[in-house]
Amino acid sequence: MKIGILLCFALFLGVCQGGRLRNNFYRNSCPQAENIIKSQTQQHVSANPNLPAKLIRMHFHDCFVRGCDASVLLNSTANNTAERDAIPNLSLAGFDVIDAIKSEVEAKCPNIVSCADILALAARDAVSFQFNKPMWQVLTGRRDGTVSISSEALANIPAPFFNLTQLRQSFDRKGLGLKDLVVLSGAHTIGVGHCNLFSNRLYNYTGKGDQDPSLDDSYAAFLKTKCQSLSDTTTTVEMDPGSSTNFDNHYYTNLRQKRGLFQSDAALLTLRASANMALELLDSAEFFTEFGQSMKRMGNIGVLTGSAGEIRNKCSVVNS
Ligand code: HEM
Ligand SMILES: *[C@@H]1O[C@H](CO)[C@@H](O)[C@H](O)[C@H]1NC(C)=O
Ligand SMILES: *[C@@H]1O[C@H](CO)[C@@H](O)[C@H](O)[C@H]1NC(C)=O
Ligand SMILES: *[C@@H]1O[C@H](CO)[C@@H](O)[C@H](O)[C@H]1NC(C)=O
Ligand SMILES: *[C@@H]1O[C@H](CO)[C@@H](O)[C@H](O)[C@H]1NC(C)=O
Ligand SMILES: *[C@@H]1O[C@H](CO)[C@@H](O)[C@H](O)[C@H]1NC(C)=O
Repeated sequence: MKIGILLCFALFLGVCQGGRLRNNFYRNSCPQAENIIKSQTQQHVSANPNLPAKLIRMHFHDCFVRGCDASVLLNSTANNTAERDAIPNLSLAGFDVIDAIKSEVEAKCPNIVSCADILALAARDAVSFQFNKPMWQVLTGRRDGTVSISSEALANIPAPFFNLTQLRQSFDRKGLGLKDLVVLSGAHTIGVGHCNLFSNRLYNYTGKGDQDPSLDDSYAAFLKTKCQSLSDTTTTVEMDPGSSTNFDNHYYTNLRQKRGLFQSDAALLTLRASANMALELLDSAEFFTEFGQSMKRMGNIGVLTGSAGEIRNKCSVVNS
């Protein structure tokens, strides 16, 4: 209590930046905010079952670059190539949906609700749609950044060809641990990946025209029917074949059968500790509990609060 009062006093004096995210930050300033975001997200998901994958990945990319500050949503300008245009093969999508949700929220409560919070909530609500209940808690009170630089996306987003050491470093730099890495990779139970991001595993793993030995043979044969050459940059395949719009823990079943799509997925099995975690996540209840906790940690990375940053009027441009 005392600490809270001191913090607020410090905030009042402008000494500190206001600190932490809170449950239902907009309860007084815009009580309808979370409901508007939920119902809008649900409408969009019912029209497009691929949307949950797009939104949760966008939230991940946002948080890993400059913290969860909606920097991923900013458009490039004449002078600056933004994160979202980093490289075409990052292939993010769903920007239009966030913009549409933002307009609905602005119509009720102008200048109150940040784009960073909208993205965090929409990602949660999109994934939760199939369950008809919120699958993890999203704290709010994030504010929006004003800077978005493509090179920072390249430097901070882990690549699909990373080994475990590189993946751990990438997560560690964001204050996330090995457990978070194994748990959050489970998001690859939904969505798709482009052939060129894994076809070296099919056709030229070590540069000798070989196949990745850590990839199941019949799965590799199946993938070769989809991705017919190293130069295919347009075809996509489901990361969890047959249930790529169903959010569950089937990722870990695939992984155990050597059917992780990317090297970064297979890498989770290259250390005893992470391989054991992946086995424990075969328990569905365990997975959902852990996933919620790791999402909460991810959603807290480098957040701007208090008077830092701004509340953007439109999510794709900074306020003028
Ligand atoms: C651990 C490091 C990670 C790596 C190396 C990685 C890499 C990738 C790559 C290369 C793709 C395919 C992109 C494309 O071809 O269009 C992808 C898709 C995806 N990733 Fe990850 N990812 C990682 C972690 C995460 C995390 C933490 C989340 C969310 C919590 C996530 C959620 C997704 C989703 C949902 C898709 C499918 C997107 C779609 O269908 O358009 N990934 N990831
Ligand atoms: C941002 O870019 C997108 C895609 O090019 C475009 O549809 C949108 O209108 C732009 N936003 C603004 C505010 O100009
Ligand atoms: C873009 O760069 C030009 C020339 O350097 C400068 O005059 C202009 O103010 C810049 N615009 C923005 C939006 O930074
Ligand atoms: C992504 O695309 C860029 C060029 O747009 C290319 O240089 C790079 O190698 C590609 N990365 C992957 C992982 O395919
Ligand atoms: C992981 O990749 C890095 C960079 O390529 C390399 O230096 C390191 O030796 C690799 N680690 C393992 C365990 O393969
Ligand atoms: C396979 O990789 C090697 C070494 O990087 C390269 O010289 C060769 O051209 C590649 N093969 C194909 C078919 O791209």
